[in-house]
Amino acid sequence: MKRRVVMLGPPGCGKGTIATKLENHFGLKHISSGHWLRREVQSGSEFGREIQEFLDHGQLVPDRLVLAALEHWLTKAVLQQGYILDGFPRTRAQAVAFDTLCLEYALPLELVLYCSCPDEVILDRITGRRVCPSCGRTYHVRHFPPRFSGKCDVCHTFLEQRSDDTESVVRDRLKIYKQETEPLVEFYQSQGKLVLLDAVAGTSTAIGQGINALMS
Ligand code: AP5
Ligand code: MG
Repeated sequence: MKRRVVMLGPPGCGKGTIATKLENHFGLKHISSGHWLRREVQSGSEFGREIQEFLDHGQLVPDRLVLAALEHWLTKAVLQQGYILDGFPRTRAQAVAFDTLCLEYALPLELVLYCSCPDEVILDRITGRRVCPSCGRTYHVRHFPPRFSGKCDVCHTFLEQRSDDTESVVRDRLKIYKQETEPLVEFYQSQGKLVLLDAVAGTSTAIGQGINALMS
């Protein structure tokens, strides 16, 4: 079974949704770089203040800041336990730094699940998304509503809309994805690690494909 997995794909394609299911199914740790960065902003830390503007405007946090903070959320213990990494790496520099880190611990990345999705589907998914600011679980006002309106099913915290989930910011995030992150498809294809998931169909299709890829 594969235990060291990266989810790759445009904003809103369902990376977080699929990763949460795979985490529950396999007992691997789901790590979302975006969730970790948003928590830093909420905490009011110096690092959080430094990165807030990038997140609000849908810009990538510069590589030097992301890589300097890497050891705080991507620890050796996590690499050893097994992970589903969602939102990192996002640039070629991050992918190269990540490969170096994995090599250092002799724990190479085993699988990249690539979720491709058209822009119009993404816009519908992101503008209807609601997130739990406490545990990070994700809902959708129509596709995945919570059991009790406006509250997280698990920790009962009031759900929020992310500050970067407006249509104009999403369009900017899509542009940045195509420039900076999409080239990683080829990067990982050339390493023989890439498996394509159908992110447009219902989530159960993509999750089933993800489970098969981890088991193969
Ligand atoms: P991040 O939090 O990673 O955001 P993202 O990549 O833009 O992706 P999203 O979380 O928006 O979407 P997702 O693919 O997880 O979709 P989800 O499952 O929620 O990053 C945010 C920001 O942090 C970045 O813009 C950047 O500023 C910064 N950042 C993070 N990492 C960084 C890095 N490495 N370097 C630099 N900066 C970094 O699903 C979306 C919605 O669709 C949900 O409502 C869901 O319920 C619904 N849905 C999902 N699947 C389906 C389906 N099959 N059918 C119907 N609805 C569905
Ligand atoms: Mg996400």
